[in-house]
Amino acid sequence: MKPFCRDTWVEVDLDAIRANVETFRRHIPEKTEIMAVVKADGYGHGAVQVGREALDAGADSLAVAMLDEAVVLRDAGITAPILVLGYTPPESVGIASKRQVELTAYSEAWIREADRLLRQDQLEPVGIHVKADTGMGRLGVRTTDELLGVVGALEESDKLRWSGLFTHYACADEPDDTHVRRQHEMFQAFLQALLASGRKLPKVHCCNTAAAIAHPEWGYDTIRLGIGLYGLYPSPYMKERADVSLIPALSLKTRIAHVKVAEQPITVSYGATYTTEPNEQVATLPIGYADGYSRLLSNRGTVLFEGSRASIIGRVCMDQTMVRIESGEAEVGDEVVLYGRQGEEEISLDEVAALIGTINYEVPCMLNYRIPKVYMRQGKECGVFHPLFK
Ligand SMILES: Cc1ncc(COP(=O)(O)O)c(C=O)c1O
Repeated sequence: MKPFCRDTWVEVDLDAIRANVETFRRHIPEKTEIMAVVKADGYGHGAVQVGREALDAGADSLAVAMLDEAVVLRDAGITAPILVLGYTPPESVGIASKRQVELTAYSEAWIREADRLLRQDQLEPVGIHVKADTGMGRLGVRTTDELLGVVGALEESDKLRWSGLFTHYACADEPDDTHVRRQHEMFQAFLQALLASGRKLPKVHCCNTAAAIAHPEWGYDTIRLGIGLYGLYPSPYMKERADVSLIPALSLKTRIAHVKVAEQPITVSYGATYTTEPNEQVATLPIGYADGYSRLLSNRGTVLFEGSRASIIGRVCMDQTMVRIESGEAEVGDEVVLYGRQGEEEISLDEVAALIGTINYEVPCMLNYRIPKVYMRQGKECGVFHPLFK
């Protein structure tokens, strides 16, 4: 029996994940490691499955946005190093210690409080990566003095281990490289200040996917590979630049729930914003905005049926979407591709993102717990995960 009843699912091609890791492995310097970024449930692809595949394909460590995500990976039995890239309240440092997850820090006050709590509870030391804000304006120390203060506080602690130093680029995916170069120079100045103070550098990292593509020579000890792992380019500009060839891993599929051919014009969906032509073939798909299939696709998006485009007609509902089938005869149960490839045609996440006014990153992240994920290897199903039944 199928492990889900509604015929709407995400397909994740694990061979694509593997190939993308291998592509970056060849692209960056040999001594540079790969940290696979699997935050936000692996950008909607499934953190555990993608994390395992990436590690097996040669990635060295994983990164997530928050400690809860790291706990999920540890609970699944993943033992590789994991770094939390975002803020962790000091009260949670015990969890990081017990799960041996590395944390990000950028304030002396945080370090002293985390150190106090770990000593109080007699817990094992926690690895800390210091974050430098070189021009993202989000998290991190902004001056050399701040950096030396934070590192000094770490050195005074027996319970916090200084394990890394990193920064994050704001504009690495843009044609104008002024900002990213300025950020990199500032990062280099931080490294110089540490060396001048007689310190040995910990693990140093600054490259996201865009920087790893454009500046593999800035790889230092590891890159943090996010969007590229999933086979997507960080921006349309980067896609054009394409001196690495990536394979998208995610498809979104469904099966037709109802077909009608209305001899007389009828209106379709809420607001009656669409009226059919005589004898138009209308198929109803069991997916809607409550699944993360954007309502902004109403009367604009397309899907693939028998390798051809079929337009979305009327408004995308919470659980259902109607499309106009123009080529072929549709039947209940026929497969429809919402994202991905069917025959010669493809609806890329870039196309969907442009249509709804966002970036490709957001499109898979929107797909939620209602949609089961089917994992594929060599074109064959190798596992199903349904968050609803977890
Ligand atoms: C700190 C940090 N590093 C790395 C990444 C990965 O970036 P990308 O998905 O562009 O490779 C992110 C993603 O937002 C991030 O926040």
